[in-house]
Amino acid sequence: MQKHHHYHFLLISCFCFSTLALSWNQNMQFNQGKNYEGSSDLVDLQYHMGPVLASPINLYIIWYGHWNPTQQAIIRDFLYSLSSSSSYPSVSDWWRTVRLYTDQTGSNITGNIALSGEFYDTKYSHGGYLSRLAIQSVIKTAVTSYPRPLPLNPHNGLYLVLSSSDVQVQDFCRAVCGFHYFTFPNIVGVTVPYAWVGNSGTQCPGICAYPFAWPSNSGKPPPSSNGGNNIMHAPNGDVGTDGMISVIAHELAEVSSNPLVNAWYAGDDPTAPTEIADLCVGVYGSGGGGGYVGKVFTDSWGNGYNVNGVKGRRFLVQWVWNPLQRRCFGPNAVD
Ligand SMILES: *[C@@H]1O[C@H](CO)[C@@H](O)[C@H](O)[C@H]1NC(C)=O
Repeated sequence: MQKHHHYHFLLISCFCFSTLALSWNQNMQFNQGKNYEGSSDLVDLQYHMGPVLASPINLYIIWYGHWNPTQQAIIRDFLYSLSSSSSYPSVSDWWRTVRLYTDQTGSNITGNIALSGEFYDTKYSHGGYLSRLAIQSVIKTAVTSYPRPLPLNPHNGLYLVLSSSDVQVQDFCRAVCGFHYFTFPNIVGVTVPYAWVGNSGTQCPGICAYPFAWPSNSGKPPPSSNGGNNIMHAPNGDVGTDGMISVIAHELAEVSSNPLVNAWYAGDDPTAPTEIADLCVGVYGSGGGGGYVGKVFTDSWGNGYNVNGVKGRRFLVQWVWNPLQRRCFGPNAVD
């Protein structure tokens, strides 16, 4: 992706061996040509007959590298919020859009996501640089560790590998902020869906923690009327971790609707599917797109958010594609 003088914009994530990178410029064109937030006819999202995550999910976190307890608490509270009720609009209200996807038996994606185990890989078992494939070896290490391995759960397990801000991952910051895929039996022993998300706090917050940081190669952010700048403050006070929340949300929505990469996606190429969250990258509220996050809430400290979670927490999560309304949608929509 060429950066030129345009702002290198946002995320990229989607599935393992594909990448989706949007520059500011491309995103403008993207939204002018195909206004996904407002309309529909150009989006060809299809069901390809594979499974979705319809059974209650047992989610296992692997903390790779050095994490502090504050960062871990933010992420745990977000995950707890997925299936807890909080005041509207909440994280679980946001997940309702994901639950609209079904498999060929008519079963919806589950609303039950339980945090069922955590593994602390504080010794960087596979080093400070991870290839995409090495993420599977990290999972293997966690499920075979002595004396307290994570359970290897091929029935309804979902593994979330989170790498700390000092860990480099293949394509991280250049092409991806996170990805999801499934494990190979010859590495892990079974086929289970997993996702990886990196903490971009020191490596590329302007790309993977946007809009809480501004791309460093793009000059200054637009000034605001009071002479400051328009950077949105992170709702839990940690740019890298608050930025990860939306990427985690993106990957959970996609791994649930396309766990084996043969269920819900748009496009003809299964090696580069456009999935339900890819369609709404950069959109967090009504009117969003083209570099504008959309109509979200701002508290009196300038912290941006669009959903409520447990323990009074607030989070900013991107919208996902609503298959019934045929547009990007979230519970903070004003129309
Ligand atoms: C299941 O999906 C169908 C089709 O999108 C939808 O009409 C229904 O409301 C969904 N059920 C739940 C519990 O989300």
